[in-house]
Amino acid sequence: MPESPELTNVVRDRYGRAAQRVLSGEGLPADCCSQTSCCSGSAAASCDPITSNLYVNGESNELPEAAMLASLGCGNPTALAELAPGEVVLDLGSGGGIDVLLSARRVGPAGKAYGLDMTDEMLELARRNQRDAGVTNVEFLKGHIEAIPLPDNSVDVIISNCVINLSADKRTVLAEAFRVLKPGGRFAVSDVVVRGSVPQAVRESMELWVGCIAGALEESEFERLLLDVGFENPTFEPTRFYASADATAFLSQSGLDIEAVAHEIDGKFMSAFVRAKKPSFASTRGAAIVPGELSVLFLCTGNSARSQIAEALLATRGKDRFRVGSAGVHPATRVNPYAVEILREYGIDWTGRVPKTIDEVIDQPWDFVITVCDRAKESCPIFPGHPALAHWGMPDPAEVEGDEHTKRTAFRNTAITLARRIDLLLALPFESLERRARDERVRRIGDAHGGDKA
Ligand SMILES: C[S@@+](CC[C@H](N)C(=O)[O-])C[C@H]1O[C@@H](n2cnc3c(N)ncnc32)[C@H](O)[C@@H]1O
Repeated sequence: MPESPELTNVVRDRYGRAAQRVLSGEGLPADCCSQTSCCSGSAAASCDPITSNLYVNGESNELPEAAMLASLGCGNPTALAELAPGEVVLDLGSGGGIDVLLSARRVGPAGKAYGLDMTDEMLELARRNQRDAGVTNVEFLKGHIEAIPLPDNSVDVIISNCVINLSADKRTVLAEAFRVLKPGGRFAVSDVVVRGSVPQAVRESMELWVGCIAGALEESEFERLLLDVGFENPTFEPTRFYASADATAFLSQSGLDIEAVAHEIDGKFMSAFVRAKKPSFASTRGAAIVPGELSVLFLCTGNSARSQIAEALLATRGKDRFRVGSAGVHPATRVNPYAVEILREYGIDWTGRVPKTIDEVIDQPWDFVITVCDRAKESCPIFPGHPALAHWGMPDPAEVEGDEHTKRTAFRNTAITLARRIDLLLALPFESLERRARDERVRRIGDAHGGDKA
């Protein structure tokens, strides 16, 4: 149970009322800018600088309007969490269920998305939204994020959207998240975070404006708590900064001189995407490797086709055995539509994936970094954990010219080669191989004939 029952009751009442408004068809207040925002129930209206425009068109088309209207988050964790088909996802403080429903689509019928919330009205709203969306691989649970009602080591990814700041017992929340994650599981959460020190009065006013009832964590404190409970490689990616100008009316009402305090606010209050990993223990164990604990990063120049196809295939075929990612040396803005189309032929829905840059993954622990294009091999940076490097270079299908059929065939052939290599990888006897032999066998898979001799 939470440490502070009074605070919990305030939070529950507030969100109970917000859910009730949506359930009764009244909707959330339109004059959100005059309310305390984000977590206060002012969400979804377009003028709110915290909750508005978090989801892109494709995502909103996937969901019932009521789920969108009840969105009270401050980020878009499912867009950043890299969910893979077959994974189990848990959303802490799931509210009207928007991120649970989006996750359910990403993990597909072989996966499952849980939403956890303590407020009855929110659970009722979320279940109604689930019915309207026609999504079945979802379960909404009643309970507290400080005492998660799920077994140890049962979840692949924890997401959350603007909820941890509401808890008076953040360490327990993080420890619970760690407990239920499987080894190698990911913590991928959007929340309001404060960067650096801010005078108390300013901080309290800004937190009130943002709606962080129990107070947002300072970035380095958040990092320390994550490390304390056992997570590794915490990273913070600001997704939106809040400026004094956004909160002028609110702050002047609270008696603050905006001009005088602007420098204490600007650049310090943000919504951030916070990632961390539960250790897999693979990298610390020396020789013998237990499958289920290996992590593989596919690296390419732009990360829009080859590495995305490789990631999707290994994440699906090596489910429960590998943690998989992909990244580009130069950023790509979207996954190549032909790659998405060809992956569908393998039963994989890769729509809505956001390619990653190398900066986003370099600090995570990887056992293998596999380059799938020559230029990525040449510019492959040094990874801090010294993963084994392998090169599985192959031509870029996106450079093939011709009609639709020719282009599609080029992507299909790329997927066939990658699928063969991935099957060879999965067939390696990881348990019995000594590390050097293992690394060499993974390298040989990329030989000219697709690793036939591996
Ligand atoms: C700001 S809303 C966010 C809802 C949802 N994540 C979204 O993006 O729309 C916070 C939600 O967390 C729930 N919540 C807050 N504190 C909680 C706690 N300690 N345990 C369980 N749920 C909690 C509230 O009931 C509410 O539904």
